[in-house]
Amino acid sequence: MFKRVSGTKDILPEEAVLWQRLEEISRNIFALYNFKEIRPPLIEESALFNRSLGENTEIVQKQMFLINNKEETYALRPEGTASIVRAYLENNLDKTSGFAKFYYLGPMFRLERPQKGRLRQFHHIGCEAIGSLDANLDVEIISLADHLLRNFSIDGYKIKINSLGCAEDKKRLTDSLRKLLKTRLEKLCPECKNRFTRNPLRILDCKNDACKEVIKELDISSAYLCNDCKIHFDKVKAGLDALKIEYETSPCLVRGLDYYTGTVFEISHQELGAQDAIGAGGRYNNLVKELGGPQTGAMGFAFGVERLLLALGAGGKAQAKDLTYLVTLGEAARKEGLKLLNELRKAGVPCDTDYEAKSIKGSMRRANDLHARRVLIIGDNEIEKGVVTLKDMTSGEQSEVKTENLIGHLPGVHRVC
Ligand code: HAM
Repeated sequence: MFKRVSGTKDILPEEAVLWQRLEEISRNIFALYNFKEIRPPLIEESALFNRSLGENTEIVQKQMFLINNKEETYALRPEGTASIVRAYLENNLDKTSGFAKFYYLGPMFRLERPQKGRLRQFHHIGCEAIGSLDANLDVEIISLADHLLRNFSIDGYKIKINSLGCAEDKKRLTDSLRKLLKTRLEKLCPECKNRFTRNPLRILDCKNDACKEVIKELDISSAYLCNDCKIHFDKVKAGLDALKIEYETSPCLVRGLDYYTGTVFEISHQELGAQDAIGAGGRYNNLVKELGGPQTGAMGFAFGVERLLLALGAGGKAQAKDLTYLVTLGEAARKEGLKLLNELRKAGVPCDTDYEAKSIKGSMRRANDLHARRVLIIGDNEIEKGVVTLKDMTSGEQSEVKTENLIGHLPGVHRVC
């Protein structure tokens, strides 16, 4: 028997209901902030990611799913930001819209070592706002992430923020880190010894205990920030305070992608263990220019859907379904039942039956398994009287309803059309 590829997941119908719920909430909340959906392709030229995320980042070095095709190399997208900036520029949205707000939902691919909360195909719910340097945009983006989490009914999360400053500030921070770490290299994990030359900023958020100890001893203040970046970051913090959004400032938060500048943030969840980031984002004020567009500010974030579901835990179990289940007894009832199902569905009532001519006991068990809210029973007796027996599965109450009045007798039914 074939097995799914390691690090991928089958999202079975019961779980898919939860996905639909998160997606529906996301669409509604994004609409409140006037973000519009964008659907870029799942494959891009690999060079787009090398350029945007950075040649020395872990994703580009080790985690890209590459497809070689004649002269070209494509990559399954490891994240959405680079594709969206590419689409923004390729479709001339910088000229026609200027400031634009996008949201996206969909799969991302990274060739990682799978573990709890770390997959090779995972999903993002994310957004990008391109075309502004205003600190109020940072506040809006972080408060939008918080708003989404509240509406997903997730609590127990922590928002950490930091500012990496502009390109010069980042360089200052990198240089001072190199100086500080030079004498402590021996204490770092092998991965961080490598990072020391390639990407020393990443040492700051290494999860290895020995590295954490080394970092604790360093004095990482925000002194590397230039005046403009410091003022910007102060405005962001004041804006979050004004909106009463709880956050922590974390000087070790650096994020793993080279395109970040200025404000960065990460949202972790206490229940998740090693892979505790449920979402993250930040500003990338040089990426649009880097990819051939104008110098302009931008910011976004992405949630990992699988991690949101882990954070929801038992609280995320599927809600009772609004299903009406039809039980037919005998051949004539089955014929009537077919017509009734058709009418109910046309009226927007979600309903189902079994096609295996089960006994009434078997059919009721099936209705139970499906968490049906009510059952309709038709037998010869009901056909003769022109009625349907309606049983409420929560209260157990049972009554006869005239067939032609049935639709009006289904209280609380969520009409889908
Ligand atoms: P990221 O931190 O790489 O950022 O990914 C965002 C979120 O995706 C993470 O916080 C995590 O919840 C989830 N995630 C990442 N990798 C995996 C994985 N292997 N398995 C399961 N979940 C995962 C970005 O991708 C940026 N593009 C976010 C952004 C948007 N920044 C600005 N705009």
